[in-house]
Amino acid sequence: MQPFEVYIPTRIKFGPGRILEVGKIASDLGKKALIVIGGGSVKRIGALDKVQASLTSAGIESTVFEGIEPNPRHTTVNKAGKLAYAEGVDLIVALGGGSVMDASKFVAVLAKQPETDSWSLTSRQPNEGKVGDPLPIIAIPTTAATASEVTPFAVLSNEDIKGKAPMAHEKVKPMVAILDPELHTSLPEKTTVDGAADIMSHVFENYIAGGNDSILADRYTESVLKTVLEATPAAIDDPGDLNARGDLQWAATLALNGMQGVGRAPSGFPMHNMEHALSGQVPDLAHGRGLAVLYPSYFRWMIGHGRAVDRFARLGREMFDVGATDDRIAAAEFIDCFSRWLESVGLYESLVDAGVPEDAFEPAARYAAEAYGDGESISAAGPVTVDDMVEIFRGTRRQSPAAV
Ligand code: NZQ
Ligand code: ZN
Repeated sequence: MQPFEVYIPTRIKFGPGRILEVGKIASDLGKKALIVIGGGSVKRIGALDKVQASLTSAGIESTVFEGIEPNPRHTTVNKAGKLAYAEGVDLIVALGGGSVMDASKFVAVLAKQPETDSWSLTSRQPNEGKVGDPLPIIAIPTTAATASEVTPFAVLSNEDIKGKAPMAHEKVKPMVAILDPELHTSLPEKTTVDGAADIMSHVFENYIAGGNDSILADRYTESVLKTVLEATPAAIDDPGDLNARGDLQWAATLALNGMQGVGRAPSGFPMHNMEHALSGQVPDLAHGRGLAVLYPSYFRWMIGHGRAVDRFARLGREMFDVGATDDRIAAAEFIDCFSRWLESVGLYESLVDAGVPEDAFEPAARYAAEAYGDGESISAAGPVTVDDMVEIFRGTRRQSPAAV
C-alpha cells in the first residue's frame, strides 16, 4: 500500500430538507452572503426562496448573482467576482451544480482581488496558486456529479482560446456542504445520467492507471461503481426516489473527496484531460456526457495497447460477474457489459452524435497535450499521443446507431 495524505476540511450535512439549515450555518461564517446560481433551475424548484428566507431569518443579508453557465465562462465569473467585491460580501453560498460551485470558488477569490482575471488563476497561468485568503463557501449541490462540494478544484472555460482548465487549491474547499437529495428530484433524466457518468469517471481514473497496491482502495471504488449501476436506473424510473437520489449524491461526494485513490500509486486524469479539451471546443457538451462517450473507445484503446488489462478484467469480474479466468477475455467482456449498461441508461453514443464534429478532434487532442501533458502527449499508464487521442475520439463512431 502506498503512503498517502488526505485533508478533508468540509463539514458535510446530509439529509432531505436540510437546505433550510443554511441560515444557521451561515451565521457562524459571515454577515452578508452572495448567493451564486446558474440559469434559473434553483428558482423554479423553490430552492433559492428557501435559501434567501433561511438567511434572512438568521439575520444574514444576501444578494444573488444569476447566470453561471454549464461549463462556466471566465468572463461571467469575472462579473460575479466584481459584484461580490462591490457588495462587500463576506460569504459565498453556491447553490447549483458543479458549474455554479466551481464558479463560486473563483468568486471567493475574486471578492478580495476583483481586478484579477479568473482565467489567470488556472493551471499554468500567471496567477496559478495566488488565491490569497478566499471567502468561506457554503456549497449546496443540486446535481450528483462533480463532488465540487468537497474538492479543491474549480474548472473554468475560456471561449477565446476554446479551452478549459482547473484551478486547484486547498483554500477553496467549501467550509460546509449541505447535501439535500430533495433538490435532485427535479433533475431531468439527461442531467441525472450525465452526472452518473462523471461520478464513475472519478473512481475509474485512478483505479485503472494507479495499480493494485490496496485492496481497500479497490473495494472502495467498486462500491461507488456498483452503487451508481443500481441507483441510476432507480432514479430514472422514479425521479422522486430519495434513496436513489441520496445514494447518487453520496457516491458523487465519495468519488472525488480525496479518499478514492489513497493507497494506490498517483495517476493522471486522462479521461478528464480529453473531455475538458473536447468541451473546450464545444461548450454545449456536458462534462459527464463527454466522459461517457469516451469510455468504450478509451477502454478498448487501453486494452488494445496492453495497458491495465488486469484492472479492466477485475472491473468485469467485480461489476458484472464476468467468469472468464483469462484477463484479456475478462477485460473485453467488461467493455461489452459496461457498454450495454451505458446503452440502457441512454449514455451510449458517438462523439459526433453528442455534438462534437470530427474537425474538432485534432484541435482538442492538441489542447489536451499542451494544457495537461508535455505538449506531445498525456499520461494513462504510459503516453497517449495527439494521434492516439484522435484515434480514441474516432473510435467512438462505433457507438453511433448508424454504425450498427
Ligand atoms: O444552470 P441551471 O439553470 O441551474 O441548470 C443546470 C444546468 O443546465 C441544470 N440543473 C442543475 N441542478 C438542477 C438542474 N436542473 C434541474 N434541477 C436541478 N436540481 O443542470 C445543468 C448542468 O449543470 P452543471 O452544473 O453544469 O453540471 P455538473 O454538476 O455536471 O457540473 C459540470 C461542471 O463541473 C466541472 C465540469 O468540468 C463542468 O464544468 N467539474 C468540476 C469538478 C470539480 N470541481 O472538482 C470535477 C469534475 O470532474 C468536473 O470537471
Ligand atoms: Zn469529472
